[in-house]
Amino acid sequence: MMNSTRRQFLKRTGLTTLVLVSGGLVWRAVDNGVFNIGEGPAYEPWRNWQSDADKGPLTLVRAGILAANAHNTQPWLFRIAEGQIKLYADTSRNLGSFDPYLREMHISLGCALTNMEIAASASGYGASIDIVPGKLHLSEDTPADPLIATITLTPATIAPSALYGAIPHRHTNRGAYDLGHSVPASAKDAFRDPQQPGIEVYLADNAEALTELGTLIVSSTEQIIKDHEMSGDSSKWFRMSRDDVDQYRDGVTIDAFGLPPMMNVGAKIIPAPSAGLSDSQWLSGTRDTHVGTAPLLGAICVADLYDKATAIKAGMQWQRMHLWATDQGMAMHPLNQPAELVDRDQQLGRPSAMADQLANLMAPTKGKPTFFFRAGYAERPARLSPRRPLKSVIL
Ligand SMILES: Cc1cc2nc3c(=O)[nH]c(=O)nc-3n(C[C@H](O)[C@H](O)[C@H](O)COP(=O)(O)O)c2cc1C
Repeated sequence: MMNSTRRQFLKRTGLTTLVLVSGGLVWRAVDNGVFNIGEGPAYEPWRNWQSDADKGPLTLVRAGILAANAHNTQPWLFRIAEGQIKLYADTSRNLGSFDPYLREMHISLGCALTNMEIAASASGYGASIDIVPGKLHLSEDTPADPLIATITLTPATIAPSALYGAIPHRHTNRGAYDLGHSVPASAKDAFRDPQQPGIEVYLADNAEALTELGTLIVSSTEQIIKDHEMSGDSSKWFRMSRDDVDQYRDGVTIDAFGLPPMMNVGAKIIPAPSAGLSDSQWLSGTRDTHVGTAPLLGAICVADLYDKATAIKAGMQWQRMHLWATDQGMAMHPLNQPAELVDRDQQLGRPSAMADQLANLMAPTKGKPTFFFRAGYAERPARLSPRRPLKSVIL
């Protein structure tokens, strides 16, 4: 039989362990941002984007940096001149083998241009956008920080719009969507209405096409995961600790994964997953949540995947679609793995089975898909993603 001194000792040790473990968990929870989701300087640009202190062209830049952008790399630089804003690509903020031709970088810059164009009307400016033409080349053959577009501003009547109001509410929603709530025909018509010349929008509008496109998205995810260079280049932009979020104010964060609340807490408390585990979680999330709960999948298509101005216009189209959907209470989420795989095939000079399968599926659509997405009604609102301050992006 155990004597009472020994029993007391074990009880005390057990209690101490429990206190230490739970104290450690609470400390880790506090330290890793469980209790301050969407708060702090990294998220301020969402709140002070209409700051009174900066009337004038800076207002447009404040809107520009809130745009969608690949992996939240925020690959932009701005120079404000007399009556003009010049937009440059920050080519150092690239995704390596995940975006070898900087196609997604240019789409991201197009997203920023749309936010700036919309903010211009709301701020009493006419904005004429002059995009620098050219071809996209491999990242290593691209000169550093090229000029992308010049926005010339002229005085105009202040004309705020619903899209302007949606700018701070538009967030990529990676959570589950309600399969019982389909996308109305009016929204499909709005998506199909190309806002930019040379842009077509394909929608997987029946059960068969939805299944086929979903299968291609999952299959391209599987192939990307097997490519360790792609997987590694992507994971460089994941910010798995609150310290990193606060320090870098960019990248894809745990909060942005769209996990249900308790899983979000768990993901912040447990140690960051290995590369292999993180890849398999991405695959299962893509299959079960992103594709599995999508009432609508689609793609923005263009005549030439590697034309600069076209990539920028595809981004302008996406940003407008996402703002419009936000205003309508809908959620959207890019799922760009098929286009990323096609780029990688092209970079490695191998035949692209994915490009062929996509062309077959989208047959009546003339253009090639450059940007894939899902749309629907989300079960939960999306959380904010961080943004760098203006001083980091103004030249
Ligand atoms: C060109 C481009 C490609 C993207 N590809 C994906 C993607 O494949 N998967 C994904 O979850 N999000 C994707 N996104 C969404 C971005 O990760 C997101 O816009 C960024 O993290 C900023 O978050 P926010 O949209 O909530 O502001 C993409 C966005 C752009 C502009």
